[in-house]
Amino acid sequence: MNEILRIIQSRFSCRSFSDRAPSDAELLAIASAGLAAPSGMNRQPWFLSVVKNRALISEMEQEGLLAIAAGEGLSIYKTLAARWGKLFFDAPCMIMIAVKEADYPKGAHLIDLGIVAQNIVLAAASLGIDNMHCGLAAFCFAGGKSAEFKTRLGFPEGYEPGYAVLLGYAKETRTPHAANPGKMTVIE
Ligand SMILES: Cc1cc2nc3c(=O)[nH]c(=O)nc-3n(C[C@H](O)[C@H](O)[C@H](O)COP(=O)(O)O)c2cc1C
Repeated sequence: MNEILRIIQSRFSCRSFSDRAPSDAELLAIASAGLAAPSGMNRQPWFLSVVKNRALISEMEQEGLLAIAAGEGLSIYKTLAARWGKLFFDAPCMIMIAVKEADYPKGAHLIDLGIVAQNIVLAAASLGIDNMHCGLAAFCFAGGKSAEFKTRLGFPEGYEPGYAVLLGYAKETRTPHAANPGKMTVIE
């Protein structure tokens, strides 16, 4: 198995980060891997904010938890938030991703977003930096502080943030989910 395949198979979602933060050089390398992602029609509809400010991360987490608790019809999110009581699991830093909606085809910007996020995850894992995809980060922008957070994160006008990759070092490692070979077929 080559190095990329090994990293893909061994990566796991970290939900318990220690205090130790990746270096600036590592964060730059990881964010650059995100920016190297392919995108539909090469539109590169993203903007990344590398957030090292722990007070801001904590403030966003509180806001996100409040938004989840206040939401109607969000029982699955409430369950998740209640189970852990956290959104960001004490991660010392994160990359928050914002995207601009593409006019065509519908939803293409979200596919691009996913590819950027996975590039970030795999780049981090290749450097021995633990990580987690965080879709619930969207809730940080669901309340009254949305505009303020967008400004503090440095997002240009027109970009909508709502997806984060948490980065740091695990207090305890986990095994990734078991891949299901029944989810594919080979047609000869
Ligand atoms: C698009 C996406 C969004 C996710 N959002 C969250 C999240 O907000 N909170 C969380 O704890 N895990 C989140 N995860 C992690 C998944 O729960 C995790 O990948 C899955 O349970 C499989 O576990 P593994 O990554 O350890 O193999 C997300 C994963 C993906 C791909």
